[in-house]
Amino acid sequence: MSTVLQVPAEVLTASRSRPLAGDIEVPGDKSMSHRALILGGMTSGETRISGLLEGDDVLHTADAVRAFGAEVERLGPGEWRVRGAEWQSPAGPIDCGNAGTGARLLMGAAAGFPINATFTGDASLSSRPMERVLAPLRAMGARAEGGTLPVTIRGGDLHGISFVNEKASAQVKSAILLAGLRADGEVEVIEPRRSRDHSENMLRAFGCEVEVEGESIRLGARRRLVATDVAIPGDPSSAAFPMVAALLVPGSSVAIRNVMVNPLRTGLLTTLLEMGADLRFENERTEGGEKVADVTATASTLHGIEVPAERAPSMIDEYPILAVAAAFATGPTVMHGLAELRVKESDRLAAVVAGLRACGVEAREEGDSLIVQGTGAPPCGGAEVQAHHDHRIAMSFLVMGLAAQHLVAVDSAAMIATSFPNFVELMHSLGAQIG
Ligand code: S3P
Repeated sequence: MSTVLQVPAEVLTASRSRPLAGDIEVPGDKSMSHRALILGGMTSGETRISGLLEGDDVLHTADAVRAFGAEVERLGPGEWRVRGAEWQSPAGPIDCGNAGTGARLLMGAAAGFPINATFTGDASLSSRPMERVLAPLRAMGARAEGGTLPVTIRGGDLHGISFVNEKASAQVKSAILLAGLRADGEVEVIEPRRSRDHSENMLRAFGCEVEVEGESIRLGARRRLVATDVAIPGDPSSAAFPMVAALLVPGSSVAIRNVMVNPLRTGLLTTLLEMGADLRFENERTEGGEKVADVTATASTLHGIEVPAERAPSMIDEYPILAVAAAFATGPTVMHGLAELRVKESDRLAAVVAGLRACGVEAREEGDSLIVQGTGAPPCGGAEVQAHHDHRIAMSFLVMGLAAQHLVAVDSAAMIATSFPNFVELMHSLGAQIG
């Protein structure tokens, strides 16, 4: 890879900072970045991508798409060119690194082709469940071995499926739709709770017919992809960190430009507004089929609320940073429906509770709910938090350290490079004390 990653040091500390101020953009959306590379790699002709997230997760997907036979080239920062191909069996295993999205979407895409591929990943990814994707792919006619990585898929000759996506997983839905591009017959995913719809939106941008009617998402008869250009806006899941930091550090005001605000991704914004956050949205527009806005966050006094389980799919990656915000609020914040947090890059429910308690915050799990008791005063801090090699746990507790009474250390911060490679640099530009 020609890309140079900015890898944060393994142990980082964050301490009480002066008011944060500035005008920033966060890197491109991770979900869209994986999808743009995969769809471009399956489409004959040239796809130009701008704003691609050059985090470790996405770079693994770029390598994978290349290994399947596409040409993938970096033209400049965030600017990539993909020339797609009929996928071939790769020469060796496909290493997906830490990326659940990369692994599951690539498995779906590969299953449509008459090829064999073995998928591997790091220790965290190798412990995450893959059966949720393999079961529907098998039902479509693929052969798949292994319930966790390494997984080997033998694809081709697929038929249709009607699948109920009980877990509201966008990765499962996307794997089925990608496999379905080359399947005969009806391909339908039924979603009692809607998950993020970037695959649907991007498939349409590539000329594929996708019908959405009530809970049903169906591929239409026109499934041939036509190369197109994709502009990727800022990742709301990354914007969440400087945004919450600005809400918590007294006197702060931070503007974040070009943030994707797809309504299936804005659960955190809704929740923070209900907690009393001062968030302003300007310049709302649609770019490349996705809603985008500039968001300004100003330091706020927050109060605890109850967050309903139905909201979980629209903020599934944001619970760790919400839990940190809740630790500064007055009164309890109760978050329901978090079972899926246990199978992310770490068991995020357990990691958040342990980290909050280490920082002197009263927090507990109750079934699939998380309860954080804020006192309205800054938490004590003064602890080293175990991030369990999970990028979002690391960033969440570094944000905690910026406004806690005493500094907060995070034991494993290097994984921040998977999703937000310039996190430390960007936070420094706002005045954050991280080192
Ligand atoms: C993603 C879907 C979510 C999310 C992940 C990205 C995607 O996972 O947590 O970070 O791009 O489709 P699930 O599909 O497992 O909920």
